Amino acid sequence: MIPIARPLIGDEEIHAVTDVLRSGTIAEGQKVKDFEVAFAEHTGTSYAVAVNSGTAALHVALLSHHIGAGDEVITTSFSFVATSNSVLFTGARPVFADIDEKTFNIDPESIIEKITPRTKAIIPVHLYGQTADMKTILEIAEENDLIIIEDACQAHGATFDGKKAGSFGTGTFSFYPTKNMTTGEGGMITTNNKMVAERAKMIRSHGSKVRYFHEMLGYNLRMTDIAAAIGLVQLKKLDGFNNARINNAMAFKSKLNNLTGFELPGIDKHCRHVFHQYTVRVNNGMISRDEVVSYLEKKGIGTGIYYPLPIHKQPYYKEIGFNDSLPVCEKAASEVFSLPVHPAINKLDLDTITQAMGEI
Ligand SMILES: Cc1ncc(COP(=O)(O)O)c(C=O)c1O
Repeated sequence: MIPIARPLIGDEEIHAVTDVLRSGTIAEGQKVKDFEVAFAEHTGTSYAVAVNSGTAALHVALLSHHIGAGDEVITTSFSFVATSNSVLFTGARPVFADIDEKTFNIDPESIIEKITPRTKAIIPVHLYGQTADMKTILEIAEENDLIIIEDACQAHGATFDGKKAGSFGTGTFSFYPTKNMTTGEGGMITTNNKMVAERAKMIRSHGSKVRYFHEMLGYNLRMTDIAAAIGLVQLKKLDGFNNARINNAMAFKSKLNNLTGFELPGIDKHCRHVFHQYTVRVNNGMISRDEVVSYLEKKGIGTGIYYPLPIHKQPYYKEIGFNDSLPVCEKAASEVFSLPVHPAINKLDLDTITQAMGEI
C-alpha cells in the first residue's frame, strides 16, 4: 500500500533523541530554546514559542492576544476541527466564512461579510500547504483593526509573495507525524510581537516566568527536549522535503492534466505551495468521489479526504447552535480527495498512481 502520509525519520533523529535521553534533561530545556531560535529564523520572525501540539499553538496564540468571551473570530469551516475548537476553548465564538473554490482557502469577500462589532481576529488556514490570500486579508485586518492568527499547521515553508507562512500575523504550526516536518507531537507559535511571545511562554507554563510564581492562569503545554531534538534535525531537512513534495506535485500535474472529470489543485501565482496535500476535486458526473477512492484503494493507493464534513456540520457544532450555509465549502467537502505526495514516495509509486487515475 502506498500510504497517504509517512514521516521520514533517519539516523540523525534517532541519535539526537538518544543524546537527549542520556543527557538527564528530557523535559523543556536547551533543545527547546535552540529549536525556537532556529524555527524563528526559518520563518523570518523575531520570536518562536514551542508547545506540545498545533492545537496548543492556536489556543495559546489566541489567549496571548487576549481573545476570550464576547469576542468573535472569523475562520474557515473547511479545516481540521482544532482551528475552531481553539477559539471555543477561549470562550470566544468562531464565525465561519466561505472558501475560494479554486484554492479551498478562506474567501476574503466572505470574511468582510462576517465582520461585526464583536469581531476581534481572523484565522486564515493555509490549507494543504498553500497560503491564503494574505495581501487582501492583511488589508481587511488593517481596515477593521483585527488581529491575524495564521493557522500554518499544514504550511511549513510555504510563502506568499516571497514571505513565509506564519510571518504575516501570529503564526501557529503543528509537528504531527503527517505534517511536512514532525516532532512526534508538537507545535510552534511565531510572532514579531515581544509581548505576545512573552505571554505565550507564560501561558504554556502555568502563567509563570519564575518557577512557583504565577502571574496569570496558564496550562502545561510545554514541548519536551526529546521532541525539540527531533524538530531541530527535521527543520534542517524541511526545504528538501518540501522540494520533493513540489516535484511530486509537478509530476502529477504533467501526467494528470489531460484527464477529464478531475480538477487538479489550483495554485495562486503569489504562493509557493508546499503540497502538504495534493488535493483533487472529482467533477465527473459519471463517477463519485467514493468510487474513485475505493478504486485507488483496490490498486494499493492510500488516499485521504480532508475534510469529509465541514466543521459547522459536525454534530458538536450543530449541538451548540451552528447552522450556517456555506455552499462552496460544503460542495468541496463532497468532492475532494488527496493523493500521496509526500517525500517517501518514489518514481514507481508516482507511475502506479497516475496509471490508476488514467484507468478511472
Ligand atoms: C489546519 C490544522 N490546524 C490545526 C491542527 C492541529 O494540530 P495538532 O494535531 O498538532 O494539534 C492541524 C493538525 O492536524 C491542522 O491540520
